[in-house]
Amino acid sequence: MKAVILAGGLGTRLRPLTFSMPKPLIPMAGPPMVRHIIDPLPKEVDTVILAVSYMKDLLERYFRENDVGRDIILINEDEPMGTGGALKNVSKWLDDTFFAFNGDVICSIDLTTMLEVHKAHRGIGTMALWPVSDPSAFGVAATDDLGRITTFQEKPPKGKELSNKINAGAYIFEPALLDHISEGVVSLEREVFPHILHRSLYGYTFDGYWIDAGTRENFLCAQHILLDRGQSNTCGIDNYPTGVRVIGNNLIETDYLEPSTIGPNVYVENGAKVCRGATISNSLIMEGAIIGNRATVLNCMVGPGAIVDDGVTISDEILA
Ligand code: GTP
Repeated sequence: MKAVILAGGLGTRLRPLTFSMPKPLIPMAGPPMVRHIIDPLPKEVDTVILAVSYMKDLLERYFRENDVGRDIILINEDEPMGTGGALKNVSKWLDDTFFAFNGDVICSIDLTTMLEVHKAHRGIGTMALWPVSDPSAFGVAATDDLGRITTFQEKPPKGKELSNKINAGAYIFEPALLDHISEGVVSLEREVFPHILHRSLYGYTFDGYWIDAGTRENFLCAQHILLDRGQSNTCGIDNYPTGVRVIGNNLIETDYLEPSTIGPNVYVENGAKVCRGATISNSLIMEGAIIGNRATVLNCMVGPGAIVDDGVTISDEILA
Protein backbone atom coordinates (compact mmCIF):
# COMPACT_ATOMS: atom_id res chain seq x y z
CA MET A 1 0.00 0.00 0.00
CA LYS A 2 1.16 3.55 -0.70
CA ALA A 3 1.01 6.78 1.27
CA VAL A 4 1.37 10.20 -0.32
CA ILE A 5 2.74 13.06 1.75
CA LEU A 6 2.14 16.56 0.46
CA ALA A 7 5.44 18.22 1.20
CA GLY A 8 5.83 20.87 -1.46
CA GLY A 9 4.53 23.98 0.29
CA LEU A 10 6.68 27.06 0.87
CA GLY A 11 6.12 27.09 4.63
CA THR A 12 5.82 30.87 4.65
CA ARG A 13 4.51 30.95 8.21
CA LEU A 14 7.78 29.45 9.47
CA ARG A 15 10.00 31.98 7.73
CA PRO A 16 12.82 32.86 8.01
CA LEU A 17 13.66 29.26 9.03
CA THR A 18 12.05 27.93 5.85
CA PHE A 19 14.24 30.16 3.70
CA SER A 20 17.03 27.67 4.36
CA MET A 21 15.21 24.37 4.90
CA PRO A 22 11.90 22.88 3.83
CA LYS A 23 9.31 22.58 6.58
CA PRO A 24 9.24 18.75 6.55
CA LEU A 25 12.92 18.69 7.56
CA ILE A 26 12.65 20.94 10.61
CA PRO A 27 13.59 18.74 13.56
CA MET A 28 10.77 18.10 15.99
CA ALA A 29 11.60 16.41 19.30
CA GLY A 30 14.43 14.57 17.52
CA PRO A 31 13.71 13.54 13.94
CA PRO A 32 12.57 15.83 11.11
CA MET A 33 8.87 16.62 11.20
CA VAL A 34 8.13 14.38 8.20
CA ARG A 35 9.31 11.33 10.16
CA HIS A 36 6.42 11.83 12.59
CA ILE A 37 4.15 11.03 9.65
CA ILE A 38 6.20 8.24 8.07
CA ASP A 39 7.19 6.30 11.19
CA PRO A 40 3.66 5.60 12.56
CA LEU A 41 2.28 4.43 9.19
CA PRO A 42 0.73 0.96 9.34
CA LYS A 43 3.08 -1.83 8.33
CA GLU A 44 1.17 -2.52 5.09
CA VAL A 45 2.42 0.83 3.78
CA ASP A 46 5.57 -0.19 1.94
CA THR A 47 6.00 2.90 -0.23
CA VAL A 48 5.85 6.57 0.63
CA ILE A 49 5.48 9.08 -2.20
CA LEU A 50 6.58 12.58 -1.31
CA ALA A 51 5.07 15.27 -3.48
CA VAL A 52 7.78 17.90 -3.31
CA SER A 53 8.68 21.19 -4.91
CA TYR A 54 10.21 23.79 -2.61
CA MET A 55 13.81 22.82 -1.67
CA LYS A 56 13.43 19.35 -3.08
CA ASP A 57 17.20 18.84 -3.21
CA LEU A 58 17.44 18.92 0.59
CA LEU A 59 14.59 16.42 0.89
CA GLU A 60 16.24 14.17 -1.68
CA ARG A 61 19.49 14.29 0.25
CA TYR A 62 17.78 13.46 3.55
CA PHE A 63 16.12 10.36 2.14
CA ARG A 64 19.28 9.29 0.31
CA GLU A 65 21.23 9.45 3.57
CA ASN A 66 18.57 8.02 5.91
CA ASP A 67 16.84 4.66 5.65
CA VAL A 68 13.28 5.13 6.88
CA GLY A 69 12.27 1.51 6.45
CA ARG A 70 9.99 2.08 3.42
CA ASP A 71 10.57 2.76 -0.23
CA ILE A 72 10.59 6.48 -0.85
CA ILE A 73 9.62 8.06 -4.16
CA LEU A 74 10.10 11.82 -4.50
CA ILE A 75 8.04 13.44 -7.20
CA ASN A 76 8.82 17.02 -8.05
CA GLU A 77 6.53 19.80 -9.17
CA ASP A 78 8.37 22.54 -11.08
CA GLU A 79 5.90 24.99 -9.55
CA PRO A 80 3.75 24.02 -6.53
CA MET A 81 0.54 22.57 -8.00
CA GLY A 82 -1.65 22.90 -4.94
CA THR A 83 -2.82 20.04 -2.75
CA GLY A 84 -5.02 18.55 -5.50
CA GLY A 85 -2.59 19.14 -8.36
CA ALA A 86 0.14 17.45 -6.32
CA LEU A 87 -1.98 14.30 -5.94
CA LYS A 88 -2.86 14.29 -9.63
CA ASN A 89 0.83 14.62 -10.42
CA VAL A 90 1.61 11.31 -8.66
CA SER A 91 -1.46 9.47 -9.93
CA LYS A 92 0.46 7.01 -12.06
CA TRP A 93 1.73 5.36 -8.85
CA LEU A 94 -1.73 5.17 -7.31
CA ASP A 95 -3.63 2.14 -8.57
CA ASP A 96 -5.12 1.01 -5.26
CA THR A 97 -6.44 2.44 -1.97
CA PHE A 98 -3.88 4.94 -0.63
CA PHE A 99 -3.23 7.21 2.35
CA ALA A 100 -2.60 10.92 1.84
CA PHE A 101 -1.36 13.45 4.40
CA ASN A 102 -0.59 17.11 4.67
CA GLY A 103 3.08 17.14 5.56
CA ASP A 104 2.73 19.19 8.71
CA VAL A 105 0.05 17.30 10.59
CA ILE A 106 1.07 15.80 13.92
CA CYS A 107 -1.70 13.63 15.30
CA SER A 108 -2.74 10.48 17.11
CA ILE A 109 -4.98 8.90 14.45
CA ASP A 110 -5.08 5.13 14.60
CA LEU A 111 -4.52 4.63 10.87
CA THR A 112 -5.17 0.89 10.97
CA THR A 113 -8.66 1.45 12.38
CA MET A 114 -9.25 4.31 9.95
CA LEU A 115 -8.39 1.95 7.09
CA GLU A 116 -10.82 -0.70 8.37
CA VAL A 117 -13.57 1.90 8.63
CA HIS A 118 -12.78 3.18 5.13
CA LYS A 119 -12.98 -0.31 3.65
CA ALA A 120 -16.28 -1.04 5.41
CA HIS A 121 -17.85 2.15 4.02
CA ARG A 122 -16.75 1.51 0.44
CA GLY A 123 -16.79 5.25 -0.38
CA ILE A 124 -14.41 7.19 -2.61
CA GLY A 125 -12.51 8.43 0.41
CA THR A 126 -12.30 8.96 4.15
CA MET A 127 -11.20 12.22 5.71
CA ALA A 128 -9.95 12.32 9.30
CA LEU A 129 -11.97 14.85 11.28
CA TRP A 130 -10.99 16.66 14.44
CA PRO A 131 -13.47 18.53 16.67
CA VAL A 132 -12.54 22.10 17.65
CA SER A 133 -14.32 24.94 19.42
CA ASP A 134 -13.70 27.51 16.64
CA PRO A 135 -13.72 25.79 13.24
CA SER A 136 -13.94 28.90 11.03
CA ALA A 137 -10.23 28.99 10.15
CA PHE A 138 -10.32 25.43 8.80
CA GLY A 139 -12.10 23.14 6.36
CA VAL A 140 -15.37 22.21 8.06
CA ALA A 141 -17.19 18.93 7.40
CA ALA A 142 -20.77 18.15 8.38
CA THR A 143 -21.69 14.46 8.39
CA ASP A 144 -24.91 12.44 8.44
CA ASP A 145 -25.74 9.64 10.86
CA LEU A 146 -23.67 7.17 8.83
CA GLY A 147 -20.60 9.40 8.93
CA ARG A 148 -20.92 10.47 5.30
CA ILE A 149 -19.82 14.06 4.69
CA THR A 150 -22.84 16.05 3.55
CA THR A 151 -21.26 19.51 3.33
CA PHE A 152 -17.66 20.68 3.11
CA GLN A 153 -16.90 24.36 3.73
CA GLU A 154 -13.34 25.61 3.34
CA LYS A 155 -12.70 28.36 5.91
CA PRO A 156 -16.33 29.49 6.25
CA PRO A 157 -17.15 32.91 7.74
CA LYS A 158 -17.34 32.83 11.52
CA GLY A 159 -20.82 31.83 12.62
CA LYS A 160 -21.62 30.10 9.30
CA GLU A 161 -19.90 26.80 10.14
CA LEU A 162 -22.22 23.80 9.81
CA SER A 163 -20.23 21.61 12.19
CA ASN A 164 -17.40 21.76 14.72
CA LYS A 165 -15.40 19.05 12.92
CA ILE A 166 -12.47 20.14 10.80
CA ASN A 167 -10.44 18.49 8.08
CA ALA A 168 -7.40 17.03 9.85
CA GLY A 169 -5.37 16.76 6.63
CA ALA A 170 -5.15 12.95 6.73
CA TYR A 171 -7.06 10.89 4.19
CA ILE A 172 -7.61 7.50 2.65
CA PHE A 173 -8.67 7.63 -0.98
CA GLU A 174 -9.63 5.29 -3.76
CA PRO A 175 -7.85 5.95 -7.07
CA ALA A 176 -11.24 7.05 -8.52
CA LEU A 177 -10.78 10.29 -6.59
CA LEU A 178 -8.02 11.25 -9.01
CA ASP A 179 -10.55 11.39 -11.88
CA HIS A 180 -12.17 14.32 -10.11
CA ILE A 181 -8.99 16.42 -10.11
CA SER A 182 -8.36 18.47 -13.23
CA GLU A 183 -4.88 19.15 -14.61
CA GLY A 184 -2.84 22.10 -13.34
CA VAL A 185 -2.92 23.92 -10.03
CA VAL A 186 -5.83 22.55 -8.00
CA SER A 187 -6.83 22.85 -4.34
CA LEU A 188 -8.26 19.65 -2.91
CA GLU A 189 -10.07 21.63 -0.26
CA ARG A 190 -11.68 24.24 -2.49
CA GLU A 191 -12.02 22.57 -5.88
CA VAL A 192 -12.35 18.85 -5.19
CA PHE A 193 -13.99 17.97 -1.85
CA PRO A 194 -17.13 20.10 -2.27
CA HIS A 195 -17.75 18.38 -5.63
CA ILE A 196 -17.27 14.73 -4.75
CA LEU A 197 -19.67 14.40 -1.85
CA HIS A 198 -22.12 12.51 -4.09
CA ARG A 199 -19.41 9.81 -4.46
CA SER A 200 -19.53 9.14 -0.70
CA LEU A 201 -16.69 10.83 1.13
CA TYR A 202 -16.78 9.73 4.76
CA GLY A 203 -15.51 11.39 7.91
CA TYR A 204 -13.47 9.56 10.54
CA THR A 205 -13.45 11.37 13.88
CA PHE A 206 -10.64 10.49 16.24
CA ASP A 207 -9.47 11.61 19.65
CA GLY A 208 -6.10 12.17 21.29
CA TYR A 209 -4.23 15.06 19.74
CA TRP A 210 -4.03 16.90 16.43
CA ILE A 211 -1.88 19.85 15.48
CA ASP A 212 -1.23 21.60 12.18
CA ALA A 213 2.39 22.39 12.98
CA GLY A 214 2.76 25.07 10.32
CA THR A 215 3.14 28.02 12.69
CA ARG A 216 5.69 28.65 15.45
CA GLU A 217 3.12 28.34 18.23
CA ASN A 218 1.70 25.13 16.82
CA PHE A 219 5.12 23.68 16.04
CA LEU A 220 6.21 24.18 19.64
CA CYS A 221 2.91 22.79 20.88
CA ALA A 222 3.46 19.63 18.79
CA GLN A 223 7.02 19.38 20.11
CA HIS A 224 5.62 19.64 23.62
CA ILE A 225 3.18 16.78 23.06
CA LEU A 226 5.86 14.57 21.55
CA LEU A 227 8.34 15.30 24.35
CA ASP A 228 5.69 14.64 27.00
CA ARG A 229 4.64 11.39 25.34
CA GLY A 230 7.95 9.83 24.66
CA GLN A 231 11.00 11.38 26.02
CA SER A 232 10.71 12.72 29.49
CA ASN A 233 13.89 14.58 30.13
CA THR A 234 16.06 12.78 27.71
CA CYS A 235 19.67 13.83 27.75
CA GLY A 236 21.63 12.72 24.70
CA ILE A 237 24.82 13.20 26.63
CA ASP A 238 25.81 10.98 29.56
CA ASN A 239 24.71 13.30 32.35
CA TYR A 240 23.71 16.90 32.75
CA PRO A 241 26.81 18.87 33.73
CA THR A 242 26.90 20.43 37.19
CA GLY A 243 24.86 23.60 37.42
CA VAL A 244 22.45 22.74 34.63
CA ARG A 245 18.89 23.02 35.95
CA VAL A 246 16.31 21.15 33.91
CA ILE A 247 12.55 21.70 34.22
CA GLY A 248 9.89 19.40 32.75
CA ASN A 249 10.34 17.30 29.64
CA ASN A 250 13.10 18.18 27.22
CA LEU A 251 15.43 16.59 24.73
CA ILE A 252 19.01 17.79 25.02
CA GLU A 253 21.45 16.34 22.53
CA THR A 254 24.27 18.83 22.69
CA ASP A 255 27.25 18.25 24.92
CA TYR A 256 28.12 21.95 24.92
CA LEU A 257 26.09 22.86 27.95
CA GLU A 258 27.26 25.37 30.54
CA PRO A 259 25.40 25.97 33.83
CA SER A 260 21.97 27.20 32.67
CA THR A 261 18.22 26.68 33.11
CA ILE A 262 16.44 24.62 30.47
CA GLY A 263 12.79 23.67 30.15
CA PRO A 264 10.08 22.84 29.96
CA ASN A 265 9.61 21.82 26.33
CA VAL A 266 13.06 22.49 24.95
CA TYR A 267 14.80 20.53 22.23
CA VAL A 268 18.50 21.40 21.92
CA GLU A 269 19.93 19.72 18.87
CA ASN A 270 23.37 18.21 18.77
CA GLY A 271 25.97 20.86 17.98
CA ALA A 272 24.14 23.78 19.57
CA LYS A 273 25.80 25.74 22.40
CA VAL A 274 24.12 26.87 25.58
CA CYS A 275 26.31 29.30 27.49
CA ARG A 276 26.59 30.14 31.18
CA GLY A 277 23.51 31.59 32.85
CA ALA A 278 21.24 31.14 29.81
CA THR A 279 17.54 30.41 30.32
CA ILE A 280 15.56 28.57 27.66
CA SER A 281 11.96 27.42 27.71
CA ASN A 282 9.37 26.24 25.16
CA SER A 283 11.84 26.45 22.30
CA LEU A 284 13.75 24.63 19.59
CA ILE A 285 17.49 25.30 19.42
CA MET A 286 18.99 23.88 16.27
CA GLU A 287 22.44 22.62 15.36
CA GLY A 288 25.16 25.25 15.50
CA ALA A 289 22.98 27.83 17.26
CA ILE A 290 24.57 29.68 20.18
CA ILE A 291 22.60 30.90 23.18
CA GLY A 292 24.90 33.44 24.79
CA ASN A 293 25.83 34.04 28.42
CA ARG A 294 22.77 35.05 30.48
CA ALA A 295 20.63 35.15 27.34
CA THR A 296 16.95 34.25 27.69
CA VAL A 297 15.00 32.42 24.98
CA LEU A 298 11.24 31.92 25.38
CA ASN A 299 8.82 30.39 22.86
CA CYS A 300 11.33 30.56 20.00
CA MET A 301 12.59 28.51 17.11
CA VAL A 302 16.31 29.23 16.79
CA GLY A 303 17.62 28.05 13.43
CA PRO A 304 20.95 26.44 12.55
CA GLY A 305 23.88 28.68 13.37
CA ALA A 306 21.73 31.53 14.72
CA ILE A 307 23.28 33.46 17.60
CA VAL A 308 21.48 34.98 20.57
CA ASP A 309 23.97 37.47 21.99
CA ASP A 310 25.06 37.59 25.62
CA GLY A 311 22.44 39.08 27.92
CA VAL A 312 19.76 39.37 25.23
CA THR A 313 16.16 38.24 25.82
CA ILE A 314 14.12 37.01 22.86
CA SER A 315 10.60 35.67 22.96
CA ASP A 316 8.00 34.49 20.43
CA GLU A 317 10.40 34.63 17.50
CA ILE A 318 11.78 32.51 14.71
CA LEU A 319 15.49 33.15 14.19
CA ALA A 320 17.53 31.93 11.28
P1 GTP B 1 2.38 28.19 4.60
O1 GTP B 1 3.03 28.87 3.44
O2 GTP B 1 2.98 28.61 5.88
O3 GTP B 1 0.89 28.30 4.59
O4 GTP B 1 2.72 26.63 4.54
P2 GTP B 1 2.54 25.59 3.35
O5 GTP B 1 3.15 26.12 2.12
O6 GTP B 1 3.07 24.29 3.83
O7 GTP B 1 0.98 25.52 3.12
P3 GTP B 1 -0.08 24.68 3.93
O8 GTP B 1 0.33 24.57 5.36
O9 GTP B 1 -1.41 25.25 3.63
O10 GTP B 1 0.02 23.25 3.22
C1 GTP B 1 -0.48 22.09 3.82
C2 GTP B 1 0.36 20.94 3.34
O11 GTP B 1 0.25 20.78 1.94
C3 GTP B 1 1.83 21.12 3.64
O12 GTP B 1 2.35 19.87 4.02
C4 GTP B 1 2.41 21.56 2.33
O13 GTP B 1 3.76 21.11 2.17
C5 GTP B 1 1.52 20.87 1.33
N1 GTP B 1 1.36 21.66 0.12
C6 GTP B 1 0.77 22.87 0.02
N2 GTP B 1 0.78 23.29 -1.24
C7 GTP B 1 1.42 22.32 -1.94
C8 GTP B 1 1.74 22.17 -3.32
O14 GTP B 1 1.48 23.02 -4.16
N3 GTP B 1 2.39 21.03 -3.69
C9 GTP B 1 2.71 20.06 -2.79
N4 GTP B 1 3.35 18.97 -3.23
N5 GTP B 1 2.43 20.17 -1.48
C10 GTP B 1 1.77 21.28 -1.08
